Formats: sequence, C-alpha cells, structure tokens
Amino acid sequence: MRNRRAALATLAGVVSLALTLSACGQDSKGSSEGSSNGSTVGIAMPTQASERWLTDGKSVVDDLKQKGYATKLVYGKDDPKTQVSQIEDLIKQGVDALIIAAIDNKSLNGVLKQAAAAKIPVISYDRLILGTENVDYYVSFDNEQVGRLQAHYIIEELGLEDGKGPFNIELFAGSPDDNNTKYFFDGAMHLLQPYLDSKKLVVRSDQTGLNDVTTLRWDGPTAEKRMKGILAESYGNRTVDAVLSPYDGISLGVLSALKADGYGSGSKPLPVITGQDAELPSVKSIIAGQQSQTVYKDVRLLAGVAAEMVDAIFKDKTPRVNSRRAYNNGAKYVPAFLLQPTSVDKKNLDYVLVAGGYYTADELK
Ligand code: GAL
Repeated sequence: MRNRRAALATLAGVVSLALTLSACGQDSKGSSEGSSNGSTVGIAMPTQASERWLTDGKSVVDDLKQKGYATKLVYGKDDPKTQVSQIEDLIKQGVDALIIAAIDNKSLNGVLKQAAAAKIPVISYDRLILGTENVDYYVSFDNEQVGRLQAHYIIEELGLEDGKGPFNIELFAGSPDDNNTKYFFDGAMHLLQPYLDSKKLVVRSDQTGLNDVTTLRWDGPTAEKRMKGILAESYGNRTVDAVLSPYDGISLGVLSALKADGYGSGSKPLPVITGQDAELPSVKSIIAGQQSQTVYKDVRLLAGVAAEMVDAIFKDKTPRVNSRRAYNNGAKYVPAFLLQPTSVDKKNLDYVLVAGGYYTADELK
C-alpha cells in the first residue's frame, strides 16, 4: 500500500501543507505530524464544538503517530459542504488512507468516488457513511445498546418494573442525518414502548415518532427550544418525570429549559435525564445532581481500533473486525469493529471515569 500510494503522496506533498492551511478556517484547521515510513492518514472529524470529537481527533493522531504514520486532521464545522471540500483537499494532498466521522452520512458519495479512484482506503469512524460501496471498514460502538442503556436507566430510576407510575416522559433523538440516531432511538424504544403502550409512561407532547423528536446537528440550543415549547404547550400544572436524551449536549439544552421553568428548585424536582459521551460539563452536572446519567464510550479505544485498521491495511493484512452483518449502509454490509458502551451515573462515575483514566479527579472539581 505504501508503495502504491508513495508516488501520489510525493507529487502532492509540496502543496499539501499549504492546501491544508489555506483551505481550512479556525474550526477546520489541519494539523500534520511527521512520518517515519512515508504514509499519511487523513482524518476528517465533524466539529470542534463538542468535547468528545477533540478527544477523538487527538487520540487518532497520537495512535497513528506512535505507529509511525503522518496525519492530517481536519474538523468540518458541522457543515457537510465544508467536510466534502476538506476530504477533497486531503485526497489532492495525497493521503494514503482516510478516517472519516461523517457530518451528513449521505453527502460523501461523490468525494468517496474520488478516494476510490485514487485507491485510498476509507474507514467510517463512529458514524456509518451510507449509500456507497466506497467505504471499507466501520468502527463504532454497539449503538443500539447505547439506547438500551439510556432506557434501562429511566425504567430503573422510575421503578417501572416494580409497577410504579404513570409518569410523564419526553423523547429526544439525535441528528436526522446521522445514521447512529435511529440505532440509539430504536434501542431505547425497544425497552420504553411497552410502558408507553400500558400508559405507565405518557408522552404529553404526543411527539413519539423518530421524525418528531430529532435534533438537527445534535444542537443543544435546538433541544432547549423544543423542550421550552413542550413545557409551555403540554404541561400546565403537570410535571415531566423523565427525558430520554441521546447526547450530553442535548441533555444540557433540555436542562436549561427545565431550570428556566422552575425545575430543580422548590416543589419541582428535575426529571431523570439521560445522555451520552461523558462530556466534562455533563459529568460535572451529574456530580451536581442535575443530569442523571450518561453513556460513556471510551473513544480512546475507538481511536485505537481505527489506527489498528489503517496499520493492517498498510501492511496488507486484514483488519480485525467483530461484526460483518450488523451494519448495511445501503450499498453493502460494511465489516465493523463494535465496542461496548457503559452507563455512568453518580454511583459509578469515580470508578469508571476517574479510575479508568478518562478524567482526573481534579478535572471533575
Ligand atoms: C454521534 C455519536 C455520539 C455523539 C453524537 C453527537 O454520532 O455516536 O456519541 O457524539 O454523534 O456528537
């Protein structure tokens, strides 16, 4: 692979840094590290606005660097067009492999044709790229399990299995253009639906279908606005007891709306609120007794698997996968390596996040 790619890499090498620096704005700055063996990996991440993706980017770069590869890391400002042009630039710069966390999972077909024509292997990182043959491997977590962990937490905290209820719940889902969204939602609804059917859980807003509850670009303020509208229109003197939230940024947006409505003080306790990613502001919120739970995904492991896959491809070996049929992207089954997520709340937070080395005790103060 190194030899096949070397000529293109050399040709494009001179313009590569200039292109990276000139094509990228503040949120999309490319960073490049020296290589000991001549291969360069282009890494396209979605946004710097969310902490987890910073950890992902840094971890992938560190792992590849340790294996002796050069890297070019770009962030796409959560804008699909920016991401497409960044990937085009990386291809022109002669990268030897691409690791991509898509912003819009259907917007990359054109640019991935260019990658295929240049024989650049593509790893779909955390979010599956849809509708194209030109994606070689997928690395992610068991995304349905993420949703099941969130729902299970709500069920336990409310005591639904002990027959308690009825309770009011509101449902939030992720970005409609992210393939993970439906996996999280389906996983959660698999466990929640029976309680909706038996009316032990009531969605006062009546917004229960995935299309009614998505949050474009996983944006916290968008979720906050929707929650405010729901409280104003559907609650009156009633209170909401639980909120299914798929991601920490959404959870914090929902929390703002609830606090502005008087929750968390006096006679209105905050509802059970789930989340995902164990982002620092949410972990602090859990410690403060506001957000209830998050789903921790050790993205250092995710980055490690992606780096191993690239390393195997460069060495003409078959990358290690543990799933061949779980993820069909509409064009093919994409061989995948899926990691396991962990539910975290106040009780196990120190053990999982601090003892596990994800945060120091000082960072959580
Ligand atoms: C998803 C990812 C989640 C969360 C979300 C928002 O694709 O699986 O862990 O990070 O994006 O960034």
